[in-house]
Amino acid sequence: MTGKWLDIGPVTQIEPGSARTLPVAGGEEIAVFRTMQSECYALINKCPHKQGPLSQGLVHGSVVTCPLHNWNISLKTGKALGDDEGCVPTIPMRVDAGRMLLLREAAIGGGIIAPADEVA
Ligand code: FES
Repeated sequence: MTGKWLDIGPVTQIEPGSARTLPVAGGEEIAVFRTMQSECYALINKCPHKQGPLSQGLVHGSVVTCPLHNWNISLKTGKALGDDEGCVPTIPMRVDAGRMLLLREAAIGGGIIAPADEVA
């Protein structure tokens, strides 16, 4: 079904405690995280510090530690935690019947979700 929510595939395609990336043609790459508690979050895949690839970071609780300089970023808000300051945009998402759904207008922005087979 099309509409407000964009189906990006089954939640089982992401191992708990890890992330996958979603290319957006003409836009920013999105990182979709699944926590060990099986909660899902989507953020732009750029650390607010120096644009490190958050999708390659360590997920603990609802936080990801950036692989470059170890900033901790809240998956819920996109904000840097502790003494660090900065924020990365988050994309509203939900899981319905085992499928991951991104808020379409937030996910696509000015770009187009590439028809990547990894998210089919
Ligand atoms: S780029 Fe992420 S902590 Fe520096």
